[in-house]
Formats: sequence, C-alpha cells, structure tokens
Amino acid sequence: MAPLTTLVLVLAMAVFQPSMILSGDAGINYGRNGDNLPSPKQVINFLTKDLNYRISLIRIYDANLDILEALSGTNLVVTIGVPNEAISYVASSQEAADKWVQDHIITYIRKGVRFRYLCVGNEAIPGVVASDVLQAILNLQNSLRQRAGTQDIYVTTAVSANVLGVSFPPSQGQFAPNVADIMSNITLYLHRIGSPLLINVYPYFALVSEPGRISLDYALFQAPRPIKDGELEYYNLFDAMVDAFVAALVRVVQSEDVKLVVSETGWPTAGREPYSSIENARIYNNKLREHAITRGTTPRKADINLEVYIFSMFNENFKQAGEQQNFGTFYPNLTQVYPLWY
Ligand SMILES: *[C@@H]1O[C@H](CO)[C@@H](O)[C@H](O)[C@H]1NC(C)=O
Ligand SMILES: *[C@@H]1O[C@H](CO)[C@@H](O)[C@H](O)[C@H]1NC(C)=O
Repeated sequence: MAPLTTLVLVLAMAVFQPSMILSGDAGINYGRNGDNLPSPKQVINFLTKDLNYRISLIRIYDANLDILEALSGTNLVVTIGVPNEAISYVASSQEAADKWVQDHIITYIRKGVRFRYLCVGNEAIPGVVASDVLQAILNLQNSLRQRAGTQDIYVTTAVSANVLGVSFPPSQGQFAPNVADIMSNITLYLHRIGSPLLINVYPYFALVSEPGRISLDYALFQAPRPIKDGELEYYNLFDAMVDAFVAALVRVVQSEDVKLVVSETGWPTAGREPYSSIENARIYNNKLREHAITRGTTPRKADINLEVYIFSMFNENFKQAGEQQNFGTFYPNLTQVYPLWY
C-alpha cells in the first residue's frame, strides 16, 4: 500500500481517535545537475515500479517538461519549482504567471500529475531576485485560484538558514535584518493563504562551520543528553534548527499556528572528512526519516507533522566540487549508496 493511502487512512481514523498522534513523511529531492544520471523516465519508473512508492513525495527544481511527462499518470506527490531565473518573469505580470501555470501545472494536471507545493525559487532570498519573490507568489496564487480546479496546490518559497539572523537558542529565532522586511511580508501572506514556508535545514553545515561548539552526536540524532531552552529539551540539532524557524515565524504572525515543511535536508558521503562519510550520511538520513515518520514533531511544535525531503536522489557532478556533489542516496545505476529507503 502506498504511504499516502496509509496517511489518508490514518487521517480518517484520527477522527474517531482524537488522541492519536499523526506522523510525518519523508520524500526526496530530484536534482539533475550532472551528466551521468538516468533519464527522467527511468527515474520515475524506478520510484513507482521498483520501489513501489516507498518514496511517495518528490521535489523537482526545474519544472522540466520531460520530468513532468514522466510523472504523468503516477501517484507520486510533486513539489514543483519555479527556477530562480524565472522568478522575475512570473512576477512581471499576471499574464506571465498565468502562462507559466498553464504550461507547467494545468497541462500536467490534465495528464494526471498530483501537485502539492508550487515553490517560487530555491534559496532566492537573499539574492538579486529576492524582491520579486512575493509578487511572483501573489501572481501564481491568482493563477491557481482561477484555473487549478480541485487540486489544493500551495504556493510558497524555499529558504535556507541564511535568512535567520538568530537561530540559537531556538526560542530566540528571528529573521536577519537584511531580509527581515521581505521575509515578514512573505510570512504574513503565506499565513493568510495557509501555505507552509519551505525551509532547507542542514545540521551538517552548522556542524562544519562550528565544530568546536556543536557535537557530531548532536548533529546525528545521537546525543546522550539534551540541550535545554527554557522548558524545552533538544536531543538533536535538526529539531533546534526547525524550531528556530518556528520562532521567527511566530514572531511575525503573532500566533503559534505557523506551517513549515523541510524541503531539503541531508548529509554528504564525501568531500570533507571526517564529517562527510557514508556511515555518517547513513546514520543521519535513517534517524531523520525515523524521526519524521514515527515522531513527526519538534519540541516546540506538537502539531507540525514533519514533512521532510531528503537531499538528494543522486550525486550531482556539475555542482561545486567537494561535499556539494556528494549528497546522493542512489548511484546512477539506481542502487542505494547505503541502506535507507526500505
Ligand atoms: C512590505 O510590506 C509593506 C506594507 O505593505 C510595504 O510598505 C513594504 O515596502 C514591503 N517591503 C518589502 C521589502 O517588500
Ligand atoms: C552500482 O554502482 C555502484 C557505484 O559505481 C557500484 O559500486 C555497484 O556495484 C553498482 N551496482 C550494480 C548492481 O551494478
């Protein structure tokens, strides 16, 4: 049975068992910055037939039409991105946004693609097109409301921890001064339309930037003792980083009712030893997946229902040399780099 079907059943049962805790899910990021990767058709066939939907959530970055064709008629749940290079175009007019939605969303809804999030850019804030992100979101939301029919597609954007000025302790989380205006306007709008903010959360990068202050155990979900923040106890850096975002959002909307999805997280298998290794990547991603699926919450958010997308499907040899190329959980021949997706 596909995990999503299970989730629907769990949701239906929850009506009769209000005490039941809802758990989250783990999906995958499918990036294609490499010249040794299988075709989209091979990848999607692998996920649906060979893996039989053990990974049911997929995020794609480039809205590539070959991938969208390959996804047609499958039950994979898709997060699609407006590439950073297309944000200003989509923000430029309602007609431009309508055309983008028609070409990449409407056409493929008709061909049987199930979309969940429409993500405007990846880590576009801060950056040269940061000031166009909100207008792009507004235009796309209009387009979807007019045209998408019955699918609930949430328009949003994905940001990294770079947008936070303070992230420790988690309760003090807030946006950095250089993006505070943009982030609060976006946050308020997403809250109004019920969209989650997508966040890219990498305990690995926090660890390698401050190895003297952060322990490997804490980054790998293996800390023997918690770090306290007021009443809350943190046994892993991932939760602390997510809750720093929660604090930043709550500060803006003045309500605990905020929504977040972890659009990227992961650990490299090579490129910066001793932190990067197959063994550390195996531990991190397995513990993360278990945390999302069986627990599904952070210390601050009992209702977050963690939805996480592991970065990534493959190593991508066109990315910056070093660790950036080595986040893949599958080899190009579609065998797993280490046991994860069982
Ligand atoms: C944020 O919204 C306010 C109020 O609508 C507006 O005056 C301001 O220019 C916006 N700031 C940015 C950076 O978009
Ligand atoms: C797949 O590729 C990996 C890495 O090159 C290799 O170690 C492994 O033996 C290959 N598996 C198969 C079944 O070809």
